[in-house]
Amino acid sequence: MTQQIPVAELRRRFPSEFVWGVATSAFQIEGAARADGKGPSIWDEFCRVPGAIADGGTGDVACDHYHRLEADLDLIADLGVTAYRFSISWPRVQPSGSGPYNDRGVAFYERLVDGLLERNIQPYATLYHWDLPAELQHHSGGWLARDTAYRFAEYAQVVSRRLGDRVVSIATHNEPWVSAVLGYERGVFAPGVKDRRVAYQASHHLLLSHGLAMQAIRAAGIKAEVGIVLNMSPVRPATDSEIDAHHARLEDGRLVRWYTDALFKGQYPADIIEHLGADAPQVQAGDAASIAQPCDFVGINYYHPTVSSSSNPASPASTGAAVTDMGWEVAPNALSGLLLRLKRDYQLPPIYITENGAAYRDQLVNGQVDDEQRRHYIESHLVAVAEAIDRGVDVRGYFVWSLMDNFEWAEGYRKRFGIVHVDYATLRRTLKRSALWYRSLLSAVA
Ligand code: FCB
Repeated sequence: MTQQIPVAELRRRFPSEFVWGVATSAFQIEGAARADGKGPSIWDEFCRVPGAIADGGTGDVACDHYHRLEADLDLIADLGVTAYRFSISWPRVQPSGSGPYNDRGVAFYERLVDGLLERNIQPYATLYHWDLPAELQHHSGGWLARDTAYRFAEYAQVVSRRLGDRVVSIATHNEPWVSAVLGYERGVFAPGVKDRRVAYQASHHLLLSHGLAMQAIRAAGIKAEVGIVLNMSPVRPATDSEIDAHHARLEDGRLVRWYTDALFKGQYPADIIEHLGADAPQVQAGDAASIAQPCDFVGINYYHPTVSSSSNPASPASTGAAVTDMGWEVAPNALSGLLLRLKRDYQLPPIYITENGAAYRDQLVNGQVDDEQRRHYIESHLVAVAEAIDRGVDVRGYFVWSLMDNFEWAEGYRKRFGIVHVDYATLRRTLKRSALWYRSLLSAVA
């Protein structure tokens, strides 16, 4: 067993106003796929493609959070967190992605936000966690179409008008790299397209939609902070060879700099534009400035480092490293290194770690889940965050991924990331040891 750091000692390393949360996303937990006027999303459809999801799972029921809202709010409150990060399902709010809005869908998120506030938990909303209204995909190719960016900005403004004075924070996108690359280049996520040119055009439209949405949200005159959430991974070469260094530099450009340069320097990295050649996106005059709107915050999702070589430019683990059930290397130092690198290379707004966590093969035994590996993963990554704060990085909060076990995209229900266990036969929730530990950390005196 790993030596545990006394919770009060760990807690003292963070400022008293530090935000402590748990995170989820709509498609992964809500279920109620057709309830109360919700339209289908590209993920509802992708789950029906034979072989797309490892265990054949769908989002039809998921954790049934939509129908268990009050009990789940009590569960979140029971953890003692100060914040909850969730996403809004665009097709629940606007079933076709254009045209009429669905009041019953909006009402669900109003109940969620009000229920959090009643429990003294700050709502952190994300507008897009990958569940595009399917109609937009059928009609115009989804994010391939520039028009989707305009549709998104309008949706962002409508949601802001309804919720913007009650939520603390609005993130436009969750991980645009995943939407673009896994969805349109590798085709392993919805909508399942495999075309690099389409993927980079989609990534441009995702970033453009972020900038347009920032303007639209601010025009709504709301109180919430606005920003974006990016997945990040420090990339290192597998060996000292020149060729591996070259691959690492390119992978860092595709994964990190493509987004951070566009958002915080106002231009795409020249080496990646050159590398893409004819697959580089069509960009219109004024787009770069729209994308580089000042953000109030940037969210960083970190899970593992990336190791690059000529045979595998983006491996999630080095040979022989300790890995989670996803095969992702456990490397907390890579998180502090990443934060320091970002501080060195960019003028960033305040940072939140909006996702961090691990999948392990949990066993529910006599009503308990002893997930010491996950507890240790979270603890060691919090130490890494504290180290970065000590060295001057402005990190304001940390959200565990995830509140509860849920639909892990192409892996279906086989991978468990929750600090709360979900029995998918009964949908019963059980706090794992990691949740009990997180609660004791949050209640330790700062
Ligand atoms: C992130 C996603 C989140 C979850 C974790 C494990 O990329 O944002 O929905 O699937 O990975």
